[in-house]
Amino acid sequence: MMKTANFVGCVCYTCAITNLSRAVIKKWDLRVKGPRRMVLGIGASFLSQFMTVSAATTNSFIALASITSGPSVSEILQNVQWPEQFPFMEDDFQRFDETPDSLFYEAPRFVTHIDDPAIAALTKYYSKVFPPSNTPGVSILDMCSSWVSHFPSGYKQERVVGLGMNEEELKRNPVLTEYAVQDLNVNPKLPFDDNSFDIITNVVSVDYLTKPLDVFKEMCRILKPGGLTIMSFSNRCFWTKAISIWTSTGDADHVMIVGSYFHYAGGFEPPQAVDISPNPGRSDPMYVVYSRKLSTA
Ligand SMILES: C[S@@+](CC[C@H](N)C(=O)[O-])C[C@H]1O[C@@H](n2cnc3c(N)ncnc32)[C@H](O)[C@@H]1O
Repeated sequence: MMKTANFVGCVCYTCAITNLSRAVIKKWDLRVKGPRRMVLGIGASFLSQFMTVSAATTNSFIALASITSGPSVSEILQNVQWPEQFPFMEDDFQRFDETPDSLFYEAPRFVTHIDDPAIAALTKYYSKVFPPSNTPGVSILDMCSSWVSHFPSGYKQERVVGLGMNEEELKRNPVLTEYAVQDLNVNPKLPFDDNSFDIITNVVSVDYLTKPLDVFKEMCRILKPGGLTIMSFSNRCFWTKAISIWTSTGDADHVMIVGSYFHYAGGFEPPQAVDISPNPGRSDPMYVVYSRKLSTA
């Protein structure tokens, strides 16, 4: 019942962009007055989210609310007036399951977390924005990686590092030239040199980061100037392990949340978003929020 009342102001197309930025500001303003869920949720169907979440189990990768109206995804991050300070608070990054992530990811999962059309859409997107295969000197980091990275078939670079939680999964990932097992929620410091990567990818996993600003600052540090970060996500997650601000909001908010990480971490160009969903309404949606490290950072 509470979830149906989550919209802030008018959600019509023309007002939606303003409302999105206002939502973040309003959330900040209203923090002490009411629950978080009262002030986020533009463009999402919270009723469907509620119904799905009710059926969640610890290990299932479940679907949350999808964008059903509002601005196009590419418009969401345009002309945002970010509040002066990061508008989220500690409890926004809490999870239903606060046991160590090492326990949750102890057993390998040789599964895919989005459907085949969504994977194909991401792979196609990568093939458009990645440097050609075997370009000398190119290094890529796939953060929150597993046994698959969804890179174009046969894609190779001198250095492709996977960082994730499960060694057996990472060992089996054919695109990786090396891997690191690290819990970013325990230690957000990335074990890599400054200015060493051309690209950082992160697929359907940004929602598990409880210290996202620390991680995004680290991403900026290890990227080469002009290096590209591609954060992609759908509307599915391990609900118990995703941060509270993610599970209580919809797709449009997720774009805004990830955009805010780039903005407040600093050192990145203004983030941009693109909807690469292959068959809207008929397969998993797929969104990308991306940014480049400033050449001066
Ligand atoms: C839903 S899976 C996605 C895996 C892969 N990116 C894909 O597209 O199939 C979530 C991934 O996030 C990683 N992950 C979750 N929590 C993490 C943490 N605290 N630190 C580092 N990686 C984490 C896990 O290792 C897991 O591979």
